[in-house]
Amino acid sequence: MEITNAEFIISNTDVKKCPEGVFPEYAFIGRSNVGKSSLINMLTGRKGLAMTSSTPGKTLLINHFLINRNWYLVDLPGYGYARRGQKGKEQIRTIIEDYILEREQMTNLFVLIDSRLAPQPIDLEFMEWLGENGIPFSIIFTKVDKLKGGRLKMNINAYLQEMKKQWEELPPHFISSSENRTGRTEILNYIENINKELNAK
Ligand code: GTP
Ligand code: MG
Repeated sequence: MEITNAEFIISNTDVKKCPEGVFPEYAFIGRSNVGKSSLINMLTGRKGLAMTSSTPGKTLLINHFLINRNWYLVDLPGYGYARRGQKGKEQIRTIIEDYILEREQMTNLFVLIDSRLAPQPIDLEFMEWLGENGIPFSIIFTKVDKLKGGRLKMNINAYLQEMKKQWEELPPHFISSSENRTGRTEILNYIENINKELNAK
């Protein structure tokens, strides 16, 4: 699939104010700084579409981007960013949880995991919560340009092994680099296939 049109529609903190209508949407979640906004820019080929920063806590709102005029990519705030203080953290958590639990158009959540790190409790617990709530999700291992081939394979295998302790069946997973566009075709094909299935219904 090629992205021929990508436009910013709206930012807000309230799931009730997200765009109306039936277009399916694909949202990106994960720890602050894992690369959610950069990935949206990489997938759309539009560098400044979603705002990015080297300091965590850049995205604080739910951001809707309309793609090819018939589906959305959604950039969410990151979780686990401590410097904003406990109250700020709680607010972000509420925004994320309300969106995930209440947004019917949300077709698939991409959970982004930094490919360089060992499995982190915060991510494992978050995915467990998704499972408990029946939220469909897939994993994207980010920043793979920062790892050499052998190391990358080792880390991903270790991650999946860790997940097998919790999950009978593993979710689909992808690798990505926003620096060199790794994973772009695979992720866009995956979305395209889900869109096709939805349209066939
Ligand atoms: P919050 O909005 O704060 O939750 O962060 P985010 O997950 O949206 O991360 P963002 O896309 O803003 O990227 C954070 C930092 O990581 C930036 O400095 C990016 O340039 C860098 N980064 C993101 N993706 C990649 C990648 O694939 N490779 C490398 N090398 N750097 C990346
Ligand atoms: Mg962001």
